[in-house]
Amino acid sequence: MRILFVASECVPLVKTGGLADVAGALPKALTRKGVDVRVLVPGYTGVMARMAEGKVVWRADDVFSRQAVVRRAPVDGLDVLALDIPEFYERDGLYVTRDGADWPDNPVRFASLAWVAASIARDGLEGGWRPDIVHAHDWQAALAPLYLKDWGVPDVASILTIHNMSYQGMCGADLRRDLKLPEAGFDAQGYEFYGQVNFLKAGLIHSDLVTTVSPTYARELESPDFGWGLEGVLAARQERAIGILNGIDTEMWDPMTDPAVPSFTTRSLSGRRSACKSLLNAFSIDADRPGPLFAVVSRLTDQKGLDLLLGILPDMLRNGGSLVLLGSGDRRLEEAFQTAARDHEGSVGVRIGYDEDLAHRIYAGADAILVPSRFEPCGLTQMYAMRYGALPVVARTGGLADTIIDANSAAISAGVATGFQFEPGSREAFANAIAKVFAVFSEPGLWRQMQRNAMRHPVGWDGPAERYVDLYARLMAAKEGQRRFSATM
Ligand code: ADP
Ligand code: GLC
Repeated sequence: MRILFVASECVPLVKTGGLADVAGALPKALTRKGVDVRVLVPGYTGVMARMAEGKVVWRADDVFSRQAVVRRAPVDGLDVLALDIPEFYERDGLYVTRDGADWPDNPVRFASLAWVAASIARDGLEGGWRPDIVHAHDWQAALAPLYLKDWGVPDVASILTIHNMSYQGMCGADLRRDLKLPEAGFDAQGYEFYGQVNFLKAGLIHSDLVTTVSPTYARELESPDFGWGLEGVLAARQERAIGILNGIDTEMWDPMTDPAVPSFTTRSLSGRRSACKSLLNAFSIDADRPGPLFAVVSRLTDQKGLDLLLGILPDMLRNGGSLVLLGSGDRRLEEAFQTAARDHEGSVGVRIGYDEDLAHRIYAGADAILVPSRFEPCGLTQMYAMRYGALPVVARTGGLADTIIDANSAAISAGVATGFQFEPGSREAFANAIAKVFAVFSEPGLWRQMQRNAMRHPVGWDGPAERYVDLYARLMAAKEGQRRFSATM
């Protein structure tokens, strides 16, 4: 089984969010199950620095008028293919400029990634490797299934995984010739969307199979509130996206061996005390605050619902809680949290930026992690938090609903609760959940039991990877028999 993953980011090479975690960890889990996976990523500056020893395995003089080379090298257990087109990828910022604006040439940058993926699928790499399946992730890779269909490559199947339906990759209709898109498909049944080219829609229509990253998000995607205008596209295929819950890399995210948190020496909770102390220090939070230490590690975007947190923060602090936040994104949110830190010195600490090491320390040292998302396809921070013994407080949506067992009275009396859930988008519900956190925190025995439950909760990739292998196998069997894949067969 040969699979070509196509993703715009991938741990440990380059990361802005959870897509990178998945594109780095799932291939390793698949490899352990005997699948031959190679991961195609854009050769951003930092990526090419790790690929210096890489062997050239594919080249072309004209990928949208640019010379392109693909280098292959092993990177931390991954079989990486890096697409080197310096004019496209050698710059600071994956998707946006320093000022936060999309790179104007993003359409051709990511059409190139998809084009090269499809070319590899059609022609193979030097040395003969050809995938059975192209597994495209998100809009940046979503044109690959369209190119495969357009060129007629019937023996290679394609899968599109939606990590976030709210990013669709759109551009003006005038670009379709430049992007070598077929004229015939530019209509409501095709890749056209309100007069524009829509990358994700192209992938939804032309892939043999669509998956998404949690069962709840798969259902949510059928409604206009979550489908961002594309909810009808799957319905027209008479299918639903297959929801497979993400896992996390339990080796990279193991408190026992994590170099960022040396205090965890046993799988017990004792290591947390000094992790917490060091965290309070790092954010200059008063050590004698009586309430829980809440934390956020997040992109600061509307999706994440952190404006709701600003609304309930004064009460949270008045009750003795404190907050540390690590994140970046929306300038207004960045400024609002920086202002909160200035106004509440000693009880609110804010770090604007991206810091992998600090993220690990936060999961290890905070009492509770806040994820008040308006929608959340899967969410990984709540799983990292659980593994490190920080209890998640999450909006009941998408993967957050699928990973956390709410501390309602039934779950508490059964001894199975792992966190706190509340209705998404509601400040009042969020405030009530926080009140519950305070209540449980005041019962150390119960709090510790929840921490132990959370730390034991299965979050690895083994189970999910098995489901992907099963889908790949069924897809290949359907291809061989030239039958259309059906999720229920
Ligand atoms: P999303 O992909 O929507 O951003 P996820 O919860 O799936 O949300 O994944 C977020 C990932 O990015 C996690 O690995 C989290 O630890 C990491 N992360 C987010 N913001 C930061 C930051 N400012 N610094 C370090 N890591 C971050
Ligand atoms: C997206 C989603 C997030 C998910 C991640 C990995 O970034 O916003 O919920 O966990 O992809 O699938």
